[in-house]
Amino acid sequence: MTGVAVGDQVFGLSPVTGTMAEYAVLSSWSPKPDAWTVEQAAAAGVVAETAIRVLDQLGVGADSTLLIDGAAGGVGDAVVQIAVGRGATVIGTASEANHEYLRSLGVIPTTYGPGLADRVRALAPAGVDAVFDVAGANLPDLVKIAPSADAVVSIADTTAPEHGARFSMSGTPDEITPTLVKAAALGAAGTYVPHVAATYRLDQVAEVHARIEAGHARGKIVIKI
Ligand SMILES: NC(=O)c1ccc[n+]([C@@H]2O[C@H](COP(=O)([O-])OP(=O)(O)OC[C@H]3O[C@@H](n4cnc5c(N)ncnc54)[C@H](OP(=O)(O)O)[C@@H]3O)[C@@H](O)[C@H]2O)c1
Repeated sequence: MTGVAVGDQVFGLSPVTGTMAEYAVLSSWSPKPDAWTVEQAAAAGVVAETAIRVLDQLGVGADSTLLIDGAAGGVGDAVVQIAVGRGATVIGTASEANHEYLRSLGVIPTTYGPGLADRVRALAPAGVDAVFDVAGANLPDLVKIAPSADAVVSIADTTAPEHGARFSMSGTPDEITPTLVKAAALGAAGTYVPHVAATYRLDQVAEVHARIEAGHARGKIVIKI
């Protein structure tokens, strides 16, 4: 491996071995920006890569109006900050308890579920340009809200292509690494600050999984060893 020395702080992904461990071999990594704590760096790998990848696939930029369904969770937290950092207008769905949090990130919050199309129309009368389906719970409705089905990318509903939408998964390590380097640059610039909802010990992992499965964590949960 080049570009790294013993003792350097890095963050990244290890899809084969996993990273919930004292030692891990990363397949993709970037130097950790000084602006992040070690916990924030641990939180950032998967979600920042996913956010940047899908925002690029959707072509989200300063002129875009983006709808994110599931905006306050682990992936959503990264998506909204990075999209707002690009200058996009961002409408994000979450339960009421997370609306103030989303507002603090520059997002226009609304609730998910029935009637979403009407709520989005009221918030963006000219319509949205792109839809990021993080939650994977409402794809047919999201396709109706989007200007066209291919303006919807889902990371959680594998039936997306059956609706004309796109399903996105992470690519090869060679594709992921430059994205992590971009995420680190956003961290160094203060554009993206990973939100750590809570930290737990490794022996609390069952409790952590129960909390994650409940599906309402704000940002990411980190295991600290
Ligand atoms: N394909 C990929 O590359 C990729 C990468 C990473 C993750 N994923 C997948 O992406 C999904 C989301 O991951 P995550 O870490 O962000 O999960 P998470 O932290 O549990 O967040 C899920 C979010 O969905 C919201 N939500 C719950 N029920 C909903 C509903 N019926 N409609 C709309 N939103 C709803 C929750 O909002 P409230 O808390 O406000 O209720 C929560 O903020 C998971 O299925 C994960 O496996 C895929």
